[in-house]
Amino acid sequence: MDIEIGILGATGFTGCELVGLLLRHPRAKIAWLSSESQPGTAYGKVYPQFLGRLSPAVEKMRSFEDVKNTRPDVVFSCLPHGASAECAAPFLANGKTIVIDLSADFRLKDAKAYAEAYAHTHPLPHLLPESRYGLSEVHAAAIKGAKLIANPGCYPTSALLPLFPLIRDGIVSPDGIIIDSKSGVSGAGKKATETTHYVNANESVMAYGVGDKHRHRWEIIEQLSLAAGRKLDLLFTAHLIPMERGILSTIYCDFAAGMDGAAADACLKKQYADSDFVRLREDFPRTGDVKHTNFCHIKSYQPAGSRKLIIVSVIDNMVKGASGQALQNMNIALGLPAALGLA
Ligand SMILES: NC(=O)c1ccc[n+]([C@@H]2O[C@H](COP(=O)([O-])OP(=O)(O)OC[C@H]3O[C@@H](n4cnc5c(N)ncnc54)[C@H](OP(=O)(O)O)[C@@H]3O)[C@@H](O)[C@H]2O)c1
Repeated sequence: MDIEIGILGATGFTGCELVGLLLRHPRAKIAWLSSESQPGTAYGKVYPQFLGRLSPAVEKMRSFEDVKNTRPDVVFSCLPHGASAECAAPFLANGKTIVIDLSADFRLKDAKAYAEAYAHTHPLPHLLPESRYGLSEVHAAAIKGAKLIANPGCYPTSALLPLFPLIRDGIVSPDGIIIDSKSGVSGAGKKATETTHYVNANESVMAYGVGDKHRHRWEIIEQLSLAAGRKLDLLFTAHLIPMERGILSTIYCDFAAGMDGAAADACLKKQYADSDFVRLREDFPRTGDVKHTNFCHIKSYQPAGSRKLIIVSVIDNMVKGASGQALQNMNIALGLPAALGLA
């Protein structure tokens, strides 16, 4: 049977990526695409790569007002944080629809941390306990059957896939972790800004959200505190680099007492031996290796004579870091093979 799907904010980058993925999914049927700025406009006019590929009933985008009382099987929200929670609410209330939110609105369990990270109070804090954090490979059991899934942030996905099992299993110390990440410009969404404008971003690299400032730091801390069984702190710095898509994270951490590089490799192998989308590499991965895919490639390395572990992890921010993982989470939530339509 078809899975009926609505996409809120379909005109954005992650919405566009999701439409492309859904058209290749054997069970997915797009029921509607929504846009607030261009309702009534044909999707193929906004994204010509979809001309003639959507059914006539779906081709023209609808407003939120027009779709909010519909009851598709799944709604993906590709809206900015703040707006996303409010637009998800009617679907959560209808008793049928699974909501998969690509924004940050349901990622943090702690509404105080949300307010600190996003500089506004959470619009619907009573819904936070209901959400399941959608790091597919780590939380699959909790995602199965869930009605509200918070799709992880792009940077957190690249950092948590290696770090979560290493901390949970006591291989690396929860203290003193440093995450240094680089992202392509699509991570900032469709609207060009002073920073993401081609003229300013091309042939230039910049650090932003340095150390304790980036919003995704709160998310990484909350998840790794869960893995450690106690509150931890860490430093995270993001960089904007002149490429279209991709994230590379370099992570520095200290081994726990008695642990070493071989223990780290064994832990990651145990976690990901049968994984559909995580690959452990002998050499250091490049973002180009995972471009346009739902894969995460990881290499862990203990430098000679050092008590530190260095991890390099790469993903495509738009796929594994957003729409691909969202689709993987839909599959898991519905009890379908996680890689259906994605491999
Ligand atoms: N880009 C990434 O790599 C990435 C990765 C992980 C997560 N995310 C998250 O996923 C969400 C979507 O990201 P994106 O990159 O697709 O963003 P985007 O390209 O900026 O698209 C967001 C869409 O939401 C709609 N929108 C914008 N402001 C709105 C508002 N105030 N109220 C209602 N709708 C609004 C717009 O569509 P209309 O004007 O047509 O309605 C816009 O096209 C964000 O929360 C983002 O943080 C993005």
